[in-house]
Amino acid sequence: MIDALYSYRRPEALPEPLRLVVLGATGSIGEQTLDLVRRFPDRLGLSAVSVNRRWRELAAALGDGDRPLVAIGDADARDEAAAAGVFGDRLLAGAGATALVDAADDATVVVNGIVGAAGLGATLAAARRGLRIALANKESLVVGGELVRAAVREGGAELLPVDSEHSALAQCLCGRARDDVERLVLTASGGPFRTASRAELEAVTLEQVLAHPTWDMGPKITVDSATLMNKGLEVIEAHHLFGVPYAAIDVVVHPGSWVHSLVVMTDGALLAQLGQPDMRLPLLYAINGEQRWPLGGDRLDLAGLGELRFERPDTDRFPCLRLAREAGEAGGTAPVVLNAANEVAVDALLAGRLRFVDLPHVVAGALERLPAEPLVDLSTALDTDRRARHVASSLVRS
Ligand SMILES: NC(=O)c1ccc[n+]([C@@H]2O[C@H](COP(=O)([O-])OP(=O)(O)OC[C@H]3O[C@@H](n4cnc5c(N)ncnc54)[C@H](OP(=O)(O)O)[C@@H]3O)[C@@H](O)[C@H]2O)c1
Repeated sequence: MIDALYSYRRPEALPEPLRLVVLGATGSIGEQTLDLVRRFPDRLGLSAVSVNRRWRELAAALGDGDRPLVAIGDADARDEAAAAGVFGDRLLAGAGATALVDAADDATVVVNGIVGAAGLGATLAAARRGLRIALANKESLVVGGELVRAAVREGGAELLPVDSEHSALAQCLCGRARDDVERLVLTASGGPFRTASRAELEAVTLEQVLAHPTWDMGPKITVDSATLMNKGLEVIEAHHLFGVPYAAIDVVVHPGSWVHSLVVMTDGALLAQLGQPDMRLPLLYAINGEQRWPLGGDRLDLAGLGELRFERPDTDRFPCLRLAREAGEAGGTAPVVLNAANEVAVDALLAGRLRFVDLPHVVAGALERLPAEPLVDLSTALDTDRRARHVASSLVRS
């Protein structure tokens, strides 16, 4: 079997209904998880939920019968919610997502749908508790892949990918011998600027950046998809999940997003997973521990598609993909710097303070100024993250 983070499965099935901790419950992943809870009322239940600020949206999204523990990361928003009394004594005082994972006694599965490096602490807490982790928060692995690996091993946790590409790889690898696998191939939609010239890239608007051709997602991952940084983060994620060297992980642009990723076997066979671009499938497959629960929705009409198109990614026009791969290969603190600088640059772009074409320069500049050091522990990661944000902020202003 394929080893590394993805390999461990507990011998016995988890009791149903599975008790979910949904982190980032107001986000795109969080909303789709709540939708699955509604679709499978006998098999899935809510143990706990977290948001950063949007507690009113959370209150509106919870059903009458839902009684989860609630954590609100932002202190002001937490005070407001406490004063409004909507969650009663189920609102944790002074606690964010990490404390929520520790507090949710009856939890069996943690869905981490937090955006950014802020999700790492909760992934580590869930790993230490030996829970099943349905991981959408890829930044956890980019920033702390080795740390998560150690915590998963020590805690005896199960870590299953939610990203559609990594879920596709997991579905292709299920039951395969590690020695039979030659390469992993991640597909990328290419984003909204796949065919744009350099001159056109100079002039793109935020509205165009946020108009993803095939997936409806939160703002940060949508920007990352347009720069191809998302695919770079996913290369690092795949390395940690499946224990495959960077040199054996390819990226191919596939504009339709029907083929979610592929595995090349040593005899030359290519195994692929195809389906509609709908995150509920990979979410459910991770939450339920790789079972097949009937899920409605459209099926792919292959004859209707006609053809499947593939292209090589252009890392001259989209340098973030190259920067991420180089940071992954450098290892240590380099992916932490890459991720932190990217988060700062994405925030600046979303706020209208940075041009699309200048984003890669911010990331490259931070990587140049903060050369890779060994990643000893969590405090090294947090300290590097803080320094990289400082450097990136000054590069955005310059
Ligand atoms: N969306 C997708 O289809 C998709 C697909 C594959 C992978 N992913 C990955 O899944 C993760 C979430 O993406 P998304 O698109 O769902 O993001 P999103 O729509 O922006 O939602 C983010 C969620 O995280 C919460 N949050 C934001 N900052 C936080 C912080 N500092 N501490 C704690 N919670 C915080 C937000 O709370 P508030 O609402 O209160 O701000 C919100 O609930 C990302 O890592 C992304 O790469 C997403």
